[in-house]
Amino acid sequence: MTSAHSLINATPIEKQNLYNKFEINEETQRLAYHYDVDSEFFIKVTGGAWNTYSCSIFKPGDSMTQAQERKLDIFAQLMGLSPGKRILDIGCGWGGPLTYLCHKYGVTGVGLTVTPAQIPYASTRAASYKVSADFIESHWENFHDEKGFDAIFTDEVVVHVHNFNDFFKKCHSLLRPKGVVVNKELHLTQERFKDWSDGLGVHVNKVYGFTGNYRLLEEEIDFGLSNGFYLKNIVPVAMKHYQETVGNHWVKNLKWHESELKRLTSEEHFNDFYKYLRCTMVSFRHDVFRQHMLVFQKNGES
Ligand SMILES: C[S@@+](CC[C@H](N)C(=O)[O-])C[C@H]1O[C@@H](n2cnc3c(N)ncnc32)[C@H](O)[C@@H]1O
Repeated sequence: MTSAHSLINATPIEKQNLYNKFEINEETQRLAYHYDVDSEFFIKVTGGAWNTYSCSIFKPGDSMTQAQERKLDIFAQLMGLSPGKRILDIGCGWGGPLTYLCHKYGVTGVGLTVTPAQIPYASTRAASYKVSADFIESHWENFHDEKGFDAIFTDEVVVHVHNFNDFFKKCHSLLRPKGVVVNKELHLTQERFKDWSDGLGVHVNKVYGFTGNYRLLEEEIDFGLSNGFYLKNIVPVAMKHYQETVGNHWVKNLKWHESELKRLTSEEHFNDFYKYLRCTMVSFRHDVFRQHMLVFQKNGES
């Protein structure tokens, strides 16, 4: 059993709800429980050309690749991308989003992840498109950079960020003048949904190694505003897109590749993951979440 499994299984009941603070090393180990499996597992589950492990945005008849690109094009527009700009992807997954943006918009970039298995996959992908994208194994809190970024984007990562104040401070320090942060995330619709102590909530948070930190939309706005940013834009993303992403793609991919995915991980891991996707579908039906893309710009700059 890996140290991540031991940690998760030994997590006391009072730490099984949302909003736990862990030291960076422990948080990284806990995140490994979900993310640090053979990359082929997530590549097969997510599908499409860019393997985004986050909600895609569909128009009727779209393939998964088209829906992934539609979402990434919205990120590009909100970041104001143009050739030569330098961008940072915090929580870069398997490198699809950053590679696509560098390839289509002529930007260069850096992607951060705490998951070592993602780096070779992401780097090979970037090399095959001949783009300048560097993928680095680093917790965002430990990342340092001298050159500065024109924009930072992050897609369904801040659920794992406990100290959101420090996150915005770090983004502020990494951005050039007029720089923006574009964050896409699910937001709880009501305060009462912060209680994740039931079976469904505990299962989803266990899959995250108990690093879950979902918040209300207004809480995220407050964190941004109190750390040197103004709110430039909010783009809602309808939850029907997440129902389609999970229900019509990820669950079907999981079943389609069942024997291979079990071989790549384990029967137990496969069953836990399947249960996790079904739990998320229940939460979508019960209106627990909305999702938004928020654009924050450094204060005093237009
Ligand atoms: C849900 S996945 C989203 C991946 C990607 N943004 C996408 O949309 O395909 C979350 C990613 O965030 C990374 N991550 C989680 N916590 C992190 C941290 N503290 N620092 C850097 N990356 C982190 C994980 O390794 C994983 O790659």
